[in-house]
Amino acid sequence: MDDRDAALLRAHEHAAAWLDSLATRPVPPRAGVADVVAALGTDLPDGPSPAADVVDLLATACGPGLTAMPSGRFYGMVIGGSHPAALAADWLTSAWDQNSALRTVTPAHTAVEDVTSAWLLELLGLPASGAVGFVTGATTANFTALAAARGEVLRRVGWDVRRDGLTGAPRVRVLVGAERHESVDLALSYLGLGAPEVVAADDQGRVSVAALEEALADPASTSRDGGSTSAPTIVVLQAGNVHSGAFDPFGPAVEAAHRHGAWVHVDGAFGLFAAASPSYRHLVAGYEGADSWATDAHKTLNVPYDCGLAIVADPVPLRAAMGMHGDYLIQSAAGDPLDKVPELSRRGRAFPVWAVLRALGRSGVADLVDGFCRHAATFADAVRALDGEVLHDVVFTQVCAAFGDDARTQDVVRRVLDDGTAWMSGSRWHDRAVLRVSVSSWATTDADVAVSVDALGRAVAAARA
Ligand SMILES: Cc1ncc(COP(=O)(O)O)c(C=O)c1O
Repeated sequence: MDDRDAALLRAHEHAAAWLDSLATRPVPPRAGVADVVAALGTDLPDGPSPAADVVDLLATACGPGLTAMPSGRFYGMVIGGSHPAALAADWLTSAWDQNSALRTVTPAHTAVEDVTSAWLLELLGLPASGAVGFVTGATTANFTALAAARGEVLRRVGWDVRRDGLTGAPRVRVLVGAERHESVDLALSYLGLGAPEVVAADDQGRVSVAALEEALADPASTSRDGGSTSAPTIVVLQAGNVHSGAFDPFGPAVEAAHRHGAWVHVDGAFGLFAAASPSYRHLVAGYEGADSWATDAHKTLNVPYDCGLAIVADPVPLRAAMGMHGDYLIQSAAGDPLDKVPELSRRGRAFPVWAVLRALGRSGVADLVDGFCRHAATFADAVRALDGEVLHDVVFTQVCAAFGDDARTQDVVRRVLDDGTAWMSGSRWHDRAVLRVSVSSWATTDADVAVSVDALGRAVAAARA
């Protein structure tokens, strides 16, 4: 066996052992950063080592510091697992090592990207003519789509941001709901658009359409003839609030924004896939009228990190924002994958997305979404049965709960994490300490939920004692 085969075999063995351990191992890591550094060693080696030995060292040193994020009992942040088909395709992606920038240079990836894009648009009920950029995550997807938005709203008032930059440009108004995800602000700051104007949200975290109408009609930005706003304007809506799971009222919000000439972007990092389920599709009703959307494949769709999707209804503004030319590049007149993403070089990110869609099919994706929602509802029922308070309507995959005052709730969170059976994050929402449960992994079973609910019960009882 040569060095390469030995290394790949060892990697396979370590990966299989890790995946097998997920069903029973505690979710939190057993070692901290300093422990792992000590196990790895800090001296830069003077010379080469066999690749298989390097893989062994990496696996044994890192093992105790790994968090069982792909297990069925991880409910922190919004973390999708890795569906087996997507994980295996991701391995192939690394082995194939295709730089996926150019249509004709890596035709296999381009073909898969084209097919996958069409499937995604169909599954999500979005315009078939839309362009899909495969990026690293929803933060980058927000950035990519908002770059297209920025260029287009400025183009409409006669400003070429690509050529002339932002200095001296008309001010771009960006309106966001009070409970948009922080990554939207980060994306706007990358784009030089500064802090957005914040529009009030209701008790579920949904943007208020009345407040949005009012902001859009703000006299400070209304044209002299009293008509709709003349300032280049972008409205950012949200599909899936990270605390409540709530969805903005897309129909009226998109209509109001378009009436005022605004570009509408939807951040749906995990919530966009509600559209793929006949049971939850109503949550996104009217969102197909927006101009762009951001989502993650590494959340609800369960592909390994990292994979986000930037979707723009009209491919022209996306290409105007992201396209590039290099004399040494073999570019296609039909456009290249690089025209839809911020990077030039990138891995073949569409392979794992194709694999999970091919493995699940339309009904499998719907079942995945429905399963997350069913488990979330079970957690909400359990919280109530434990005399906790569910702080919102449970409409999707997120549950935010409190168990008395802030100190008691924080104590429950700490005890759940110490128990190790399941991982649930603490957060603050509506000025209260909360326990957050996010169900996002294909691996979560009824049995996982049952043992996790038991762990929560133990934590609540101990916090009360
Ligand atoms: C609504 C929303 N938008 C954006 C993001 C950022 O996603 P990512 O971490 O993939 O960049 C998240 C992450 O949870 C989210 O919930």
